Amino acid sequence: MKSSSLFDLETPCVIVDHGKLIENIKFMQNIANENSVFLRPHIKAHKCLRMAKIQIEEGAIGVTASKTDEAIVFIEGGIKSITVAYPIINKDKLDRLLISAIKNNTDIRMVVDSIEGITNISTVSNKYGVQIPVFVKIDVGLHRCGLSENNPVLIDLVNIIYDDRNISFAGLFSHAGHAYASNNADDIRLIASEECNVLLHLRKKIQNKGRNIAEVSVGATPTALVSNTYSGITEIRPGNYVFFDMTSVHKGLIGAERVALSVLATVISKNDSYYIIDAGSKTLSSDMGAHGTVGSGTYGQAYKLGDYENTSVSMPIIKLSEEHGFVQRNKTNLKIGDKVRILPNHSCPVANLTEYLFIIDNYMVLDKWRVDARGRVL
Ligand SMILES: Cc1ncc(COP(=O)(O)O)c(C=O)c1O
Repeated sequence: MKSSSLFDLETPCVIVDHGKLIENIKFMQNIANENSVFLRPHIKAHKCLRMAKIQIEEGAIGVTASKTDEAIVFIEGGIKSITVAYPIINKDKLDRLLISAIKNNTDIRMVVDSIEGITNISTVSNKYGVQIPVFVKIDVGLHRCGLSENNPVLIDLVNIIYDDRNISFAGLFSHAGHAYASNNADDIRLIASEECNVLLHLRKKIQNKGRNIAEVSVGATPTALVSNTYSGITEIRPGNYVFFDMTSVHKGLIGAERVALSVLATVISKNDSYYIIDAGSKTLSSDMGAHGTVGSGTYGQAYKLGDYENTSVSMPIIKLSEEHGFVQRNKTNLKIGDKVRILPNHSCPVANLTEYLFIIDNYMVLDKWRVDARGRVL
C-alpha cells in the first residue's frame, strides 16, 4: 500500500500504531522471559496472522485461540502450535479442527471441563489415530467455564483423561477474567496470587494421586501486568496487551499513550450537547469493558486528530447508535468535518468488526493488515 496521511483516510476506520504495537508485544514477552514462563498469546484480540507471526518472532511459543474456525485460520496460516481455549463439544467442529491440524502438521491442544467434552475429543482423536493433549479448565472466579477447585468431578475428569489412550493430560488451565471487575493494581495482584495458589494446590493434589502435570497455564492482560507470583506456572496467555485500551488505563495499569489501537471518525453533525461522529456500535462495539464490566460507563475517549498527544482534552463517548456516536463536547469547538481519534474501552471486539487494520507511524499510514479471522465465531 502506498503510504499516505492519517488525515486522508476515509472514516470510520481502525488504526494501529506500529511502534506501540511492537513495544507492547516486546513488553509482554519480556514479562514472560523475566519470570521464566512461556508466552502463548490469545489471538482473539487481533485475529490477524501478521500480528501472530510478530508475536512468535519475538518469542511466543505458539498462540491461543477461542473458536474452531478462528483456530483453523491460524493453522492454515502456518502457526505450528495452538491451544483452543474454549470447550469445543461439537463433533463436527472437532472433526474439521483435527483434519486441518493433521494436514498442516500443527500441534493442537484442547481444553475441557466436562465428560461430554472429553468423550467427543476422544472419539474424534481415535477416528484420526492421533492423541490430543487436553487441559482441564479450572474456574478461579469468573464463573464462566471450568470446574471449581473443590468440585469432586475434577479428579474424576483427570483420571478419565489419563486412562484414555486417545487423549493425554496436558495440565491445568485458568483465566482470571474476574480481574476486570477490580479497579486497582493491588486487587488485581491479589486475584493473580489467588489463581496461582489454587492451581498449585490442585497440582499437588493430583500429583499426590500419582498423576504427572506437565503444564499450568494462566492468562489475562490485567493479571499479567501486575502479578508477582509465577511459582509453578509454566505459561501465560494474555491477548489484549497487543493493543491495550481504556480499560487498562482506567484501572491505572498503563498510561493512555501505550494504547496502540484507535478508531478514526469524523464529526458529521453537532448540537448543544454532542458532536455526532460517523462511528457507532457497528465500529466501536457496544462493549464498555471486558466480560460485561462497564468501566467508566462510556464507549471510549475521543481526541481531536492532531491534539491526540495532548491527552488532557479528551471527550467521552456517551451513547451509540449503530452508525453514530454521541461525543460529549466538553467545552471544545470542533467543526463539521473535523476528525477525532477514539481510544476504545475494549479493543478486541473493535478489531473483530473491521476488515482491515490501518498500520500507522505517527500521522503516516504505512500499510493495511487483514483481520484474517474476523467474524469466525463457529
Ligand atoms: C481462556 C482465555 N485465556 C486468555 C484470555 C486473554 O485475556 P485478556 O483478554 O485479558 O488478554 C482470555 C480472554 O478472554 C480467555 O478467555
